[in-house]
Amino acid sequence: MKKVLSVVGARPNFIKIAPIHKAFREVESICEHKICHTGQHYDTLMSDIFFDELDIPTPDFFLNAGGGTHAKQTATIMLRFEKILQQYQPDIVLVPGDVNSTIACSLTAVKLGIKVGHIEAGLRSFDRSMPEEINRIVTDALSDYLFVTENSGLRNLKYEGAADEKIFFVGNTMIDNLIQNLEKISNKHFFSSLNLKLKEYIVTTFHRPSNVDSPDNLNEMVNFLNEVAKKYDIVFPIHPRTLNNLKKFHLLKKINTNVHLIEPLGYINFLSLVIDSKGVVTDSGGIQEETCFLKIPCITVRNSTERPITVEMGTNHLVGSNFDAALNAIEVFNNSLQNTMIPPLWDGKTSKRIVEIILHHLQPQ
Ligand code: UD1
Ligand code: UDP
Repeated sequence: MKKVLSVVGARPNFIKIAPIHKAFREVESICEHKICHTGQHYDTLMSDIFFDELDIPTPDFFLNAGGGTHAKQTATIMLRFEKILQQYQPDIVLVPGDVNSTIACSLTAVKLGIKVGHIEAGLRSFDRSMPEEINRIVTDALSDYLFVTENSGLRNLKYEGAADEKIFFVGNTMIDNLIQNLEKISNKHFFSSLNLKLKEYIVTTFHRPSNVDSPDNLNEMVNFLNEVAKKYDIVFPIHPRTLNNLKKFHLLKKINTNVHLIEPLGYINFLSLVIDSKGVVTDSGGIQEETCFLKIPCITVRNSTERPITVEMGTNHLVGSNFDAALNAIEVFNNSLQNTMIPPLWDGKTSKRIVEIILHHLQPQ
């Protein structure tokens, strides 16, 4: 029996691994798939809720790493993951995305001679001040299987000299998950529980250190929310990093009461809110992709995106790390996106492709 171990740590990882686990269930007679949760995210609303909603089994291994500085978090995960690898001895470790759990577990695995597959390889923002960019570059350099979501990823990996036989253009597992849950999402109409009107409200999420870690930038974000709220209802499911900083810098009370500040949402409620909205303003990576698939306009408040396909398709408007520019762009929400295209291979079959490739390579040659 072959053994595959997938790593999850933070909210977007749970979403990317859920369809991978489903695809492995279909071949469970020949390949065992286990999950290791590093505990990078630990609140019920940042972690457990996704396991329940997306039918991911209780993780086989839990590292309870929690937060801390980058070095502390990464090192804690590495020390604890090494013990799991020595005990379980998988044939391959799968790491999704670009979070600290991704780099920590890929580095630990290669040092023990275990093969690594990176789900979402090749994305580059070309901004090394982002911790995620460091995580992407290192993880790709270490991985044996580079599973790519979009054309830019292929270009970047080739430019960096990755061997052709390691690169697999497979599509996007986050979109697999979206397609698998689309009916539930479309029927939910979560907006009505907030007394909002269909297509008459805006959804926002912000959690990037560049936007929320300095008092000045966070103050700009608050001014932006208050300004938008003069014209549109605005819903803000708030990430714990952002909430903690709003409290620390005494900015929470400055947010207007007509901004709907709510706890982080579960997957179905969040995407239900997005699908019925007028548009989204965000600095999230995954939400740029989900809005692209759903043809919902998205304004991204960052200087760069590692997901340029979303801009090429016409759904995503990159305005810089500048809340005044975001405010000026808000009227793009009135443009119709019905004729935009969906990126190649974002077809709901990516996880199956990944599982087939892994099984093929794990067979004795
Ligand atoms: C992490 C990822 C980021 C990803 C985001 C997804 C890194 C370097 N960053 O950022 O790429 O976009 O997850 O949401 O890996 N906290 C809680 N409860 C939780 C989780 C976090 O209170 O369940 C608070 C803690 O104070 C913690 C802080 O948020 O120290 C930051 O958490 P961390 O996982 O280090 O980074 P994120 O900002 O969540
Ligand atoms: N998401 C969610 N509830 C929320 C906010 C986001 O379920 O309140 C989902 C979102 O649909 C996407 C993922 O979380 O699938 C993105 O996570 P996040 O923005 O935290 O991380 P990033 O993608 O920026 O790394």
